Amino acid sequence: MPQTLSVIKADIGGWVGHTAMHPEILDHGREQLALAVQSGLLIDGQAHACGDDMFLVMSHDRGEDNTELHQYAWDAFVSGTEIAKKLKLYGAGQDLLADAFSGNIRGMGPGSAELELVERQSEPVIVFMGDKTSSGSFNLPFYKMFADPFNTAGLVIAEALHQGFAFEVHDLKNHKKIVFNAPEELYDLLVFIGSPAHYAIKRVVARATGEVAAVSSTDKLSLIAGRYVGKDDPTAIVRCQGAFPAVGEVLEPFTTPYIVEGFMRGSHYGPWMPTSVAEAHPARFDGPPRVVALGFQLANGKLIGPRDMFDDPSYNNARQKANDISDFLRLHGPFEPHRLPLDEMEYTTMPAVAAKMASRWSEI
Ligand code: 13P
Ligand code: 13P
Ligand code: MG
Ligand code: MG
Repeated sequence: MPQTLSVIKADIGGWVGHTAMHPEILDHGREQLALAVQSGLLIDGQAHACGDDMFLVMSHDRGEDNTELHQYAWDAFVSGTEIAKKLKLYGAGQDLLADAFSGNIRGMGPGSAELELVERQSEPVIVFMGDKTSSGSFNLPFYKMFADPFNTAGLVIAEALHQGFAFEVHDLKNHKKIVFNAPEELYDLLVFIGSPAHYAIKRVVARATGEVAAVSSTDKLSLIAGRYVGKDDPTAIVRCQGAFPAVGEVLEPFTTPYIVEGFMRGSHYGPWMPTSVAEAHPARFDGPPRVVALGFQLANGKLIGPRDMFDDPSYNNARQKANDISDFLRLHGPFEPHRLPLDEMEYTTMPAVAAKMASRWSEI
């Protein structure tokens, strides 16, 4: 019987500012998931936080895009928002962009990643949670995991991985998708995924077995709202071992804190710092952006875990590097390339300021 892992996530209010989630909100998420397990909607469910975002990690047998499950997650965010309003948390209901639920949570604000699988003899999975960054940020780490033999030794030396992986890439602005086969189409793939604000890897498939290896949330808040309302702080699910990269190969890309979009007001580039759950509270200039890795073994759909995978001294150098890069980028203040380029600023003050100044420009 196939199972589905669904991670549906939203920022429904920050404590303090955008830095963290209040424990009452997280408790509420946990209670709602426990009720859903009791009622039989879910096999298992856990709520976790990265910065000010709540990630509902749900295991079930209802497949992807299940209306009842999406509605349940939406309702949990709506009722959680009531608590956020009572506590006057910052940006209560920030990511809930629709007035009422309508069939599928996609396009309504919350981010989602869903992966259907037939559980193997042993099924290790990693759930990544991001804050102060953006959908598309998993492009580079997914490329490293599934296409770079200098990262993933298994691409060279493990028969099950040697056929490579297929990458489903979404054009976020034009709502189109395309599949590239790696390794033979790597150069074509990179032309697109090297621009993560425009193109995001939605899923990766093992070519040897046709199984989905990884999936990420690609929902873009600004494209839904038409203005800046907060960042799309993404999530990803990655299966490990066997026909997939090993756990350590999946975690290896994060030893480099690659530069991502996000940070203060979602309008800056900064290093993506891998941290433990306990250290995922971005405070310095609302950053630097964070990524947390929760490790699980699935056992008949039960989530055995999590293990807090970046709670490991071998990530200290990456964290130190991220701090050094932040120090350097911050010196640029409101200048590019710390501030995002103009076309990425179109959802902030730029249109209003440009309109106000329009009549004052004259020919040179
Ligand atoms: P599907 O390919 O599953 O329809 O995903 C679309 C999507 O999630 C756009 O964000
Ligand atoms: P979030 O997207 O995490 O809410 O951050 C928004 C922001 O503006 C931070 O400065
Ligand atoms: Mg927020
Ligand atoms: Mg956030």
